[in-house]
Amino acid sequence: MRFNTKQILVDAQQGEYAVAAFNVYSLETVQAAISVAEKENQPVIIALGERYFPTVDVEGFAALVQAMAGKSRVPVALHLDHAYEKSSIIRAIRCGFTSVMYDGSKFDLEENIQRTKEIVEIAHKAGVSVEAEIGSVARGAFSDEEDGDGTLTDPESAKRFVAETGVDFLAAAIGTVHGMYTGEPKIDLALLERIRSEVQVPLVLHGGSGTPDDVISQAIRSGICKINVNTEISMAAVAHLLKFAADASASKVHLSTIMAHMQQSMEPVMTKFVRLFAQMERKHRRMGIDLEEWDSL
Ligand code: 13P
Repeated sequence: MRFNTKQILVDAQQGEYAVAAFNVYSLETVQAAISVAEKENQPVIIALGERYFPTVDVEGFAALVQAMAGKSRVPVALHLDHAYEKSSIIRAIRCGFTSVMYDGSKFDLEENIQRTKEIVEIAHKAGVSVEAEIGSVARGAFSDEEDGDGTLTDPESAKRFVAETGVDFLAAAIGTVHGMYTGEPKIDLALLERIRSEVQVPLVLHGGSGTPDDVISQAIRSGICKINVNTEISMAAVAHLLKFAADASASKVHLSTIMAHMQQSMEPVMTKFVRLFAQMERKHRRMGIDLEEWDSL
């Protein structure tokens, strides 16, 4: 099913769960994400970052994801992740992305508001929803994202930002990092609660990789509806490729075999995140379902 990102996230907000937004850059990453979502019967957001525009045929990619989403049994949305250029946003809107992220986090609040507002006006005319960020997510290890200065989101500014720009989802910087943590994660869940009390739109958490499970569960309880994941999946695939390369007989292996294995190596990592974000245990507990009985089914 092809779905609008906003519809997916409003459902998540009402159901108190989060949807995985997996960063993709190849056919295998898209296939892995949709296959896992179908097996787990959960919606999924396919996210292509502007940084991959030089290596990915954006229009061809969008057509491919739309075709795959069209025959999928679960809701699939197509999102533009971290775009810094208006031209990239217009390009994504033209070829059918269902949401775009404008990242003006490096500008001061006033300028971020002005720039984001303009993007919202353009996107909304085309029926496309917009995510934006205030505060800034720092970069940890093995990440492919731009480095941010790690400034946390100020709740009052978040309130003003959402009211003045009309964004549909807000990425809140609460101490997660893009990539793996190099020390003890310092994630300010109390700050998230304060942001939540000022902002009604669904909240987005960047930097899903390496974030402890209990922090993720608590963040979902405090209003996070979309969680972006990239690095952990990349690491699983790279480890797999290196294993093949280290094998003396690697030259005898066909590339198609390696690609199929690479997809298989990503799926368990994606499954772990989809299950955690779906908060099934909590849902079943709320519905009075016996978890042991459920597991044995
Ligand atoms: P990770 O690489 O930490 O999973 O974060 C991805 C992300 O937030 C992309 O926007």
